[in-house]
Amino acid sequence: MAARQDTLPHLDILSHDVYEAGVPHAAYDEFRRTAPVAWVNETDKGHHGRGFWSLTCHEDVVAVHKDWRTFSSEVDGTEIEELEPDALAARRTMLETDPPRHTKLRQLVNPTFSKMAVETYAAHAERLVGEVLDRAIGRDADGVYDIARDLPIRMITGLLGVPEEDAPQLFHWADQIVYNADPDYSPLISDHGDTDPYRLLPFRSPVSLTVLEYVHRLAVARRGVDGGDLLTVLSNALVDGEPLPEREQGTFFLLLLIAGNETTRHSLSQGLLALAEHPDQLARLAADPSLLDSATEEVLRWTSPQLHFRRTATVATEIGGVPVAAGDKVVTWYLAANFDPEVFPDPHRFDLGRSPNRHVTFGGGGPHLCLGQWMARLEVRTFLAALAQRVRRVELTGDPKRVRSNFINGLKALPLHLVPR
Ligand code: HEM
Repeated sequence: MAARQDTLPHLDILSHDVYEAGVPHAAYDEFRRTAPVAWVNETDKGHHGRGFWSLTCHEDVVAVHKDWRTFSSEVDGTEIEELEPDALAARRTMLETDPPRHTKLRQLVNPTFSKMAVETYAAHAERLVGEVLDRAIGRDADGVYDIARDLPIRMITGLLGVPEEDAPQLFHWADQIVYNADPDYSPLISDHGDTDPYRLLPFRSPVSLTVLEYVHRLAVARRGVDGGDLLTVLSNALVDGEPLPEREQGTFFLLLLIAGNETTRHSLSQGLLALAEHPDQLARLAADPSLLDSATEEVLRWTSPQLHFRRTATVATEIGGVPVAAGDKVVTWYLAANFDPEVFPDPHRFDLGRSPNRHVTFGGGGPHLCLGQWMARLEVRTFLAALAQRVRRVELTGDPKRVRSNFINGLKALPLHLVPR
């Protein structure tokens, strides 16, 4: 098993430019083969930070996610960036919390996102997908702007408890916040040092403050009111007998907005891209709708919108036989793990009938396993069902453009034509 390597595959695994150019599959494969538990020295590459363990094998990603006592989300957060204690405290959400507090926070929102609760939104999802496809089929369209970005935000505005007409504003804000390294979205670029003055705000983005103020305005009116939407739930929540601090209500909302909006969109658009590149798979699904469940999982595996999260070792331990010191950063790369040949035979084959499919698109298990996994599955499944029924071919009419981000694997443009049946 590999230890602290002197020579690593030629990939700056943190470079936003790398991901803008394409998914670095070949380099990930090499990492997995030669350095599955690799020590990445950040300063060598011009990044700020004390280095981290980079995990690209499925087994290691799952082991780390399940063992939250040894690999904490709370100690230093889940971002690779090293946050000062004041920034960590100001930006903390349940994502950066370990049990027992995590369990209490998660219980506030679990009922809204359970498999059973989400099934009740099936008709809403079908209607939204139908509307999107009515507008797009048979004409030149953009797979991101005209198709994929509408569905996730419109699915969650009702749950969040915000007016539906705010949806365009909300996803505009969420885009600016998350894509803080992409000049097409954000005027301030995180890896150019532009965002340093905003280090107390989520994603170091001044737009996060705009969203926190927006949440505050709405939340005040929900206090003492009965209601099942998440803003009302967060405004009235008691955790250990105390109301959630106002700041935490805001960051919690922001987490839900970003997680619910900025991930599923990329499974939809990159699913379209995969179907354009594998027309036989679209024809296969159209001929055999019983493949819908496996097709949904394969699109989720293939598109893996979340690239990584981070943990911190709380004690001296080992991963895959490699010694890890207390306090070391550990980064789990989901897309790399989703192409691990030990778990996925012929991993670079897009196979809508793949089964089993133990992808880690929603994380490797453990307490933080994606809250919105059933919502994301519902959206992808409903979209694939309608597409297979109504579209004969997905034709690309230009080059896809990728987001500049080492955090989200996504597209920002996908010119295409959906040829009707
Ligand atoms: C394809 C779509 C999605 C992907 C790839 C995705 C990915 C992930 C991953 C990898 C995690 C684990 C974080 C960790 O272990 O540190 C996570 C957690 C989370 N996801 Fe998702 N997600 C998706 C959709 C959604 C949706 C629709 C929502 C709805 C609001 C959502 C809300 C969350 C939340 C709140 C967490 C934090 C859970 C916790 O800390 O307990 N996600 N997601």
